[in-house]
Amino acid sequence: MTSRRSAAWFAATGRSGMNHRSWMRGQGFTSEVFDGRPVIGIATTWSELAPCNVHLHRVAESVKRGVWQAGGFPLEFPAMALGETLLRPTAMLYRNLLAMEAEELIRANPLDGVVLLSGCDKTTPGLLMAASSVGLPAIMVTGGPKLNGKYQGGDVGSGTAVWRWEEDLLAGRMTQEECAFAEGCMSRSDGHCMTMGTASTMASMAEALGMQLPYSASWPAVDSRRYETAQRAGQVIVDLVEHDVTPDKIMTREAFENAIRVNAAIGGSTNAVVHLLAIAGRLGVPLELDDFDTLIRDVPTLVNLQPSGRYLMEDFCYAGGLPAVMRELGDLLHGGALTVTRKTIGENVKDAPCWNRDVIMPLDQPFQTAGTGTAVLRGNLAPDGAVIKQSAASPHLLKHRGRALVFDSPEAYHQVAADPELDVDEDTVLVIRYCGPKGYPGMPETANVPLPAKLLKRGVRDMVRICDGRMSGTAYGTVVLHVAPEAAAGGPLALVRSGDWITLDVPARTLALDIPDDEFAARRAAWTPPLRAASRGWTWLYTEHVQQADRGCDLDFLTGGSGAQVGRESH
Ligand code: FES
Repeated sequence: MTSRRSAAWFAATGRSGMNHRSWMRGQGFTSEVFDGRPVIGIATTWSELAPCNVHLHRVAESVKRGVWQAGGFPLEFPAMALGETLLRPTAMLYRNLLAMEAEELIRANPLDGVVLLSGCDKTTPGLLMAASSVGLPAIMVTGGPKLNGKYQGGDVGSGTAVWRWEEDLLAGRMTQEECAFAEGCMSRSDGHCMTMGTASTMASMAEALGMQLPYSASWPAVDSRRYETAQRAGQVIVDLVEHDVTPDKIMTREAFENAIRVNAAIGGSTNAVVHLLAIAGRLGVPLELDDFDTLIRDVPTLVNLQPSGRYLMEDFCYAGGLPAVMRELGDLLHGGALTVTRKTIGENVKDAPCWNRDVIMPLDQPFQTAGTGTAVLRGNLAPDGAVIKQSAASPHLLKHRGRALVFDSPEAYHQVAADPELDVDEDTVLVIRYCGPKGYPGMPETANVPLPAKLLKRGVRDMVRICDGRMSGTAYGTVVLHVAPEAAAGGPLALVRSGDWITLDVPARTLALDIPDDEFAARRAAWTPPLRAASRGWTWLYTEHVQQADRGCDLDFLTGGSGAQVGRESH
């Protein structure tokens, strides 16, 4: 048997080896676990403060069964749990901290491979970034979506329903008491958001990249097959270690192209853009923001799921899940891309059935026509790009010219959103700025602010909004996101004034501020940067080093990887 990485700890002689083994035996492990078998870390993002991940402790037990069955030695360890709903100012501020923490834990410990347990939005990309930078064999097991929410006889989707209920509350169509009852009906099981929000999207991206087992993205969190798949993943990681299948062999440029196209087909979240860019950056895979536009132009949306469509992840699972979508995409994908099964994507999905054509539509009769996924916009308002999710936007607003109404924070907008005297109509372009990676900080999901109450009461359901922040994957609307450079970094968004004309032309992929060049220059000369968000700690480090959205918002010193080598031995 070839010497494993973990042997440097557990096969060592003398005081060093005794220390490594003895302290582990204090947990009750017999000495056979040090016989050279693969040591498998199980990185869990379990926490009661991350409700979407709260069942990962149980998922980890299934993974352990599989590792033991395959002859490995499983060891569970915690990685930073990021709960999207509770963390302030935004969980995104901490994605890179999770990635940095998990990377160092994987590298510093006697592990030969790692199983990544994630669920809520940032935990999936954070762990994939970490594993990519270390380069040990890895497999992801996401925790699965909640069961469909049920309210007043119908389905309600996580987050997506909340946006609508908030508008209904503002417009007087729902009472506070009705909202309180409804919120209990929406979240009725373990699991992450069950719309095609960011968590479901990133679980699907992990599967499309080849980093988790087929069907893993869609089994509901409480479905026994979720636990079967986790057990299988425990077996598979041992196999990946035996054959030295590292993440860079799976997450190639072709795999990222597959993921981008799958994201278009499932109507996935715009957050996949920043996360995939960041993961690719760790692996040294060349990937650009414009790839997200060019690669999806011939890909229709096949999946009829909220927020773009009607159904939820439970329906998606019963309809055949991601393998059915990938089979349908056929030659639009690189079928030869390797996966954690040590088979190709094409082999994995070639016989995948579809059981409900209303949920997963055929390529020749898609839910939305080709090219309606994420579009990348450029122009004098977004020199380094911005994105818009066309499938969640209103078609009549994709070409629009309107006067700007500018707010320097979402809070400033919320203070006046209910004002009946607010100078706004349905043609107004709401600009919400200083919400980027440095500005807020952390690039929160604040872009899709609810419409002004006076418009909602008139029945207006959408208007153009532009922001340097992000939008929840559960949200919808004609919202231009990820404007780069952000206002806080001196991007042109900082120079817009209320009353300026802005032209959005999604078919032409442009976003323009219609002011003369000399006026542009004068405003730039007069602009002063805002005060830094923090002078110490993680937030200081983050704002000092975070890259813009078009680079995936990773810290500049974290791109690339350091490998699995550790420094000098201690103890
Ligand atoms: Fe965790 Fe939506 S809040 S996935």
